[in-house]
Formats: sequence, C-alpha cells, structure tokens
Amino acid sequence: AKEPLRVLVTGAAGQIGYALVPMVARGAMLGPDQPVILHMLDIAPAAEPLNGVKMELVDAAFPLLKGVVATTDVVEACTGVNVAVMVGGFPRKEGMERKDVMSKNVSIYKSQASALEKHAAPNCKVLVVANPANTNALILKEFAPSIPQKNITCLTRLDHNRALGQVSERLKVQVADVNNVIIWGNHSSTQYPDVNHASVKTSSGAKPVRELVANDEWLKGEFITTVQQRGAAIIKARKFSSALSAASSACDHIRDWVLGTPENGEWSIVQGLSIDEFSRKKLDATAQELSEEKSLAYSCLQ
Ligand code: NAI
Repeated sequence: AKEPLRVLVTGAAGQIGYALVPMVARGAMLGPDQPVILHMLDIAPAAEPLNGVKMELVDAAFPLLKGVVATTDVVEACTGVNVAVMVGGFPRKEGMERKDVMSKNVSIYKSQASALEKHAAPNCKVLVVANPANTNALILKEFAPSIPQKNITCLTRLDHNRALGQVSERLKVQVADVNNVIIWGNHSSTQYPDVNHASVKTSSGAKPVRELVANDEWLKGEFITTVQQRGAAIIKARKFSSALSAASSACDHIRDWVLGTPENGEWSIVQGLSIDEFSRKKLDATAQELSEEKSLAYSCLQ
C-alpha cells in the first residue's frame, strides 16, 4: 500500500475549503489509490466551524483518508505537507482600498511562505487559489526561496475549464474532446482566454476550434467576456463565490501536474506558438496589470 501524502488546505473553514476537502478525501486530487492526510488551517475566529468540518470528514468515513489535522497554528498546518493548496486570504470588503487588501494578503502570504519553507516536505507542490492569486503566489515564492520556483503555482485552471465549457456548449461537443485552450495572464477580468491553438476531437480527426465555430465575432467578443466575467456572474446568481468549480479545478490542476505528465510531475512552457496582433494586445494588457499588482505588492513590503 502507498504511504499517505499530506495535503494542506488553508482557509479550510470557508466556501471553497468545504467543497475541496471531500474531493481530496475521495481521491479526486491525487488518485483513487493514494491515501491522504488532510491538514486544514484557518484563523482563530473560524476555529469552531473548522472543527465542524473535521467532524464531517470523520462522519463521511472516506476509505482513503488516513488522518485530519485541523488547526489555527501555521507551523502545525505546514509540517510535512507534500501538497499545499492556499485558499485562505483576506477578502476585499466594501469601502476598502486595493492597497489595503493587498497589504493584508502580502503579510499573510509572507508568513505562510516562511512556514512552508521551514516545515513542508521537500519538493512540496504549492497551488495558490486566494486572490489576488498570481500576486499572492509571487509573494509566496519570494519568501520561500528554498522551494523550487517551478513548484509554486496559482489557479487559472478554473478559467481554463470555463473556456472549455463555453466552447463545448457552443459547438455541442463533449467537453473532454476540446483541447489546448489557453488562459494567458492574470486571474482577473483582464485574463485572455485564447482558442487560437485549440482543437476538437471529431470522428474525422482534430479540427481547429476557430474553424468549427466559424464566428470570429463571438470568439473575439462574447466568448472572451463570458469567461472573464464568469466569477462575477456566479456570485450574482448564487450570492456566494464559485466554490464548487474552484474546488474541482484545484483538484484538476494538482492531479494533472502530479499524475498527468509522463515526466513525474514536471511541467514545461510550450515554445514557438504564433501570436497574432489581436492576441498580442490582450497579452500586453494583462501583463501590464500583473506588473502593476507586483509593484503594489512590493510597496506593501516596505
Ligand atoms: P471564504 O471567505 O468563504 O473563505 C476564506 C477562508 O479563509 C475563511 O474561512 C477565512 O477565515 C480564511 N482565512 C482568512 N485569513 C486566513 C489566514 N491568514 N490563514 C488561513 N485561513 C485564512 O472564501 P472562498 O469563497 O472560499 O474563497 C477563497 C479565496 O479564493 C478568495 O480569495 C477568492 O477570491 C478566491 N477564489 C479564487 C478563484 C481562482 O480561480 N483562483 C476562484 C474562486 C475564488
């Protein structure tokens, strides 16, 4: 039998945490034959609901779940973890300046980075979900220099899955037959969902999405804005954030990273993609936003 792997979920008493921990305990993240020990971290005011989640995990009697650590102590939470999913963060509240929210998250990610750096298992893989996800991941990388840079990632897989969903609905094809969509840039409304390299598996071979959709106006307009604004649309409809799809996408992200590549969990950047003028503009705009966020984050460190 395999040794259990330790999976940290921060913000585990929150919306996404509640959807995510049962998925991990059922093997959706690390596979159906991989036992897991869940480490759940939240802050002191959420200690009681966190304990409630722990009780439910016991009650669900998951065969793969070999233990649960529910704690408000960052060091205890990070000790020995093989995978860290960072969902905890400070939300933007009404009337708050962007800089104030950034400053709170920078200080959270700085201190959690140090705890991971000192106490996580070697080669720990990190996925930052909490917003601003890309910049929180950057800060985490900065303050955990001994964790390989390649192991520190943030979640844009939800946007990727949203793009797959839109293409599949539009073309009335199976979502699993749509391949190679790309999300460029920030996990925000400037992200660029790009189908220029995407294809659909059909009975007569792979066909480019652009050719099948045959409606450039939709691809350059509504498709992009729907994916960019899907998070807000879900909040409007549900009055809560998109916890189910975020949790499921976090599992997809780690599963494909750890189990999906033939090179034992190594990823690489695809080289030599052609980028047209329309795409270049979109890429530049989201890159610009990321660099502004980066400056704002670093200004919070001083
Ligand atoms: P939530 O507010 O329900 O849960 C957040 C949890 O984090 C709370 O239980 C809170 O007590 C906890 N927390 C706050 N500070 C913490 C700290 N220092 N250490 C540990 N835990 C801490 O929010 P929800 O809906 O679960 O979303 C979580 C985050 O994920 C938000 O930042 C949200 O914007 C982001 N998000 C990201 C997505 C993505 O695709 N990257 C998609 C959806 C949400």
